[in-house]
Amino acid sequence: MPAFLIKGGGASVPNLEGEIAVGSSKNASLPALASSLLFGDMPRFLNLPEIEDIKRMSELILSVDSEGNVDLDIAKRFRASILVVGPLLAKFGRASFPHPGGCLIGARPIDVFINGWEAIGGKLVKSGKTDGGNLIYTVEAPGGLTGCDYTFKVQSVTGTEGMMMTALLAKGDTVLRNCAMEPEIEYLADFLNKNGADIRGAGTTEITVAGRSGKLLRAVSPFLAPPDRIEAGTLLILGALAARSLEIKNINKCELASLFAALGEAGVETIETKNGVLVKKPKKINPVNIKTKEYPGFATDLQAPFSVLATQASGQSLIHETIFEGRLAYTEDLNRMGAKVTLMDPHRALITGHTPLYGRELTSPDLRAGLAYVIAALIAEGESKICNIYQIDRGYEKIDERLRAIGADIDRID
Ligand code: EPZ
Repeated sequence: MPAFLIKGGGASVPNLEGEIAVGSSKNASLPALASSLLFGDMPRFLNLPEIEDIKRMSELILSVDSEGNVDLDIAKRFRASILVVGPLLAKFGRASFPHPGGCLIGARPIDVFINGWEAIGGKLVKSGKTDGGNLIYTVEAPGGLTGCDYTFKVQSVTGTEGMMMTALLAKGDTVLRNCAMEPEIEYLADFLNKNGADIRGAGTTEITVAGRSGKLLRAVSPFLAPPDRIEAGTLLILGALAARSLEIKNINKCELASLFAALGEAGVETIETKNGVLVKKPKKINPVNIKTKEYPGFATDLQAPFSVLATQASGQSLIHETIFEGRLAYTEDLNRMGAKVTLMDPHRALITGHTPLYGRELTSPDLRAGLAYVIAALIAEGESKICNIYQIDRGYEKIDERLRAIGADIDRID
């Protein structure tokens, strides 16, 4: 199985230098691709990241047959496959899909989707296990979809995107309340609006979707994938830990306000340049408490890399993960590397720094913690081997090559 071999530079002397451009956003591209099912012709997608999740989504969309069935084996491999269900239901009046797989970060229920589809006229007609043990659901909309007023019980990113897409072909308008406000939702709404949709309020908690009574969109304007804000944030953290000087290009600074605030508190100086942001390792890193929150709060997807930073802070940092309950399990591996992390409960970790880290063999549990391991290995003493890098390749394009270009000692082995 492919793995990364990383020789760490040690935490005391920063050894990375140069510039690195942020790749295209996975979580903006996935819903845009799913929305292609709502078009009468195929829209163009520009600048998509070359990553595994995008390949899976493309395969999934290509697998849709004339009745709207998808390849269940592909769908169950990644969580974002749930994004195609709303468009399928809207277009074909029926969708069968497996409980989506994905990262090991918590329970990942799909109740807000099912409740939403039922509110707009769909009916969950079947849910049960196949002989192979897969949980399969079938939703049908025998009378077609009718615009509704739906309040999400929790703010869900893909839930909001999914309902926005489902409502697009309904009869009559839909009002969605308690929506998530992540930038990816606005990117999707902008793309759809440029191609004939009328969606208002994306980026706020209340979104109105004008139903098109089954009329498909016509591809006029291509989707241009924006920079990935999570990759950008992760590279900033890497720079704060290991760079003499690192310029991060292609970054939307305004999408990372909570991270910049936390980095400022940690004593990390960042300087805006013409094309990006310059970051370097400060003499001393201060401890910082963070609490993950829906956007514009501190992103849960940046929690694991920030915890690596906290291991190098002088003092105690409290990391409070409020979104997912399984997203601190990776801290056990940081402890194996020499960190001092105490899990107070499934949502809170107390990190006491600073501690030197030592190279170890690690297995990526999910893509965000996987890249956090890469960062930890880069500042560790000795060699690390990181296995299960499919998880990292799911979300970061050629990350090994790009890190090598700024001085990292990282190799991919088969
Ligand atoms: C999106 O996942 C992202 N994925 C995740 O990124 C990200 O971690 C997450 O949002 C939070 O920001 C994509 O955009 C493809 P949620 P999503 O529904 O939409 C609860 C990555 O690494 N909930 O916003 O699946 C849920 O348990 C991934 O790129 C329900 O209770 O997350 C969580 O507590 C990992 N019922 C909260 O809502 C539901 O039906 C927010 O999750 C759905 C969610």
